Amino acid sequence: MSPARAVLLIFALLAGAFLLPSPSPAAGPVSLPALAPLPLPTSPPENPTTPEKVNLGKMLFFDRRLSGDGTMNCATCHDPENGFADALPISLSYPTTRNWRNSPGLVNVAYRKTLFHDGRATSLEEQALSR
Ligand code: HEC
Repeated sequence: MSPARAVLLIFALLAGAFLLPSPSPAAGPVSLPALAPLPLPTSPPENPTTPEKVNLGKMLFFDRRLSGDGTMNCATCHDPENGFADALPISLSYPTTRNWRNSPGLVNVAYRKTLFHDGRATSLEEQALSR
């Protein structure tokens, strides 16, 4: 660093120290909300969450019959051991093809306001019917 540049840097640091407002002790400490579990996610009135649907969802998630030819289930690409993703740069797709994107992890997916990498779905109901 040249001497002129060093002087400018020192001047800038000193100016910043004098010109920037310092935190006022009168304002007191910043209070943050206490850490707590997330509230239960809301479900739309036309599709309320029930214990029966939760159990059915758990069963279907691991049922390969959903893929049509019996080779894949949701966990093929959304593996619970990988944060409900597949850890591949580009996911598999229907047998013998490749997707064009990777599988997002599904942890806390019920809280997301937009779904898919491009946000084209705004609810899980819409996402489930999308391609
Ligand atoms: C062959 C791989 C594959 C299978 C099988 C699969 N997914 Fe996905 N999933 C993906 C990919 C890739 C995306 C992202 C697509 C995009 O952004 O366009 C995705 C996106 C999602 C999302 C949106 C997540 C977000 O944060 O945006 C949900 C929810 C989801 N999948 C649930 C399921 C469920 C439930 C099943 C089973 C019924 C399933 N997926 C089966 C690959 C798969």
